[in-house]
Amino acid sequence: MERIVILTGAGVSAESGLGTFRDTDGLWTRYDLEEVATPEGFARNPGLVHEFYNARRANTLAATPNAAHQALARLERDWPGEVVLVTQNVDDLHERAGSVALIHMHGVLTGALCAACGHRWPAPRAMDMTDLCPSCDRAATRPDIVWFGEMPYQMDRIYDAVARADLFVSIGTSGEVYPAAGLVEEARMAGAETVEINLEPTRRPGLFDEVIAGHASRAVPSWVERIIAGKGG
Ligand code: APR
Repeated sequence: MERIVILTGAGVSAESGLGTFRDTDGLWTRYDLEEVATPEGFARNPGLVHEFYNARRANTLAATPNAAHQALARLERDWPGEVVLVTQNVDDLHERAGSVALIHMHGVLTGALCAACGHRWPAPRAMDMTDLCPSCDRAATRPDIVWFGEMPYQMDRIYDAVARADLFVSIGTSGEVYPAAGLVEEARMAGAETVEINLEPTRRPGLFDEVIAGHASRAVPSWVERIIAGKGG
């Protein structure tokens, strides 16, 4: 079982104090995603969008990686084969825990993007429309986040990793948003074994060969321990 692809969602950062989207008190129960997570919403009211992401960036800066992030970084270090970590999360807790082979398919809160020329640079702690692009000098600064209706980043690289996976593990995601939610089917078609680690099993149990229900900060370290022990790693 040499190649492992992991997909994480908001549930892996929940115990670091960062909100999920669709749980009872999730972000989309408190904000209208049309207003803060679509290009149309940004065009209508960029100030509101910057405020939303500035608050999430501040929360992320104040958060620390939990045992699930640490265990996934350990897996990358100690697993004898290849590990690719694909995350839907825009926080930097995987990096801060030490994960390196990491793909942020929905962008990063630590990034700023110029909507006019496409230039990227490290985001300041708080952004607003007075921030000028350091490359083209225009006031078209947006968070480097993939919004609904936009194409997630590095999908070719992600599909290539999934097509070569021996094991695909989905952690802390509701499986509601495509193309991320379709990766498990891609993995199954490629012959991979599939595992879900989630607070409660998502509505797609038939897709996973193994379903581990529990809090990520406990379930992920014990799963990593088990497969490394099994590999003698
Ligand atoms: N441990 C494990 N799983 C958890 C925990 C926890 N402590 N807390 C919550 N979960 C699970 C929930 O049961 C749920 O299935 O994490 C999942 C979170 O689902 P969502 O809130 O829908 O978040 P996510 O799947 O990451 O959303 C995907 O939707 O809004 C867009 O771009 C946004 O990347 C996001 C995408």
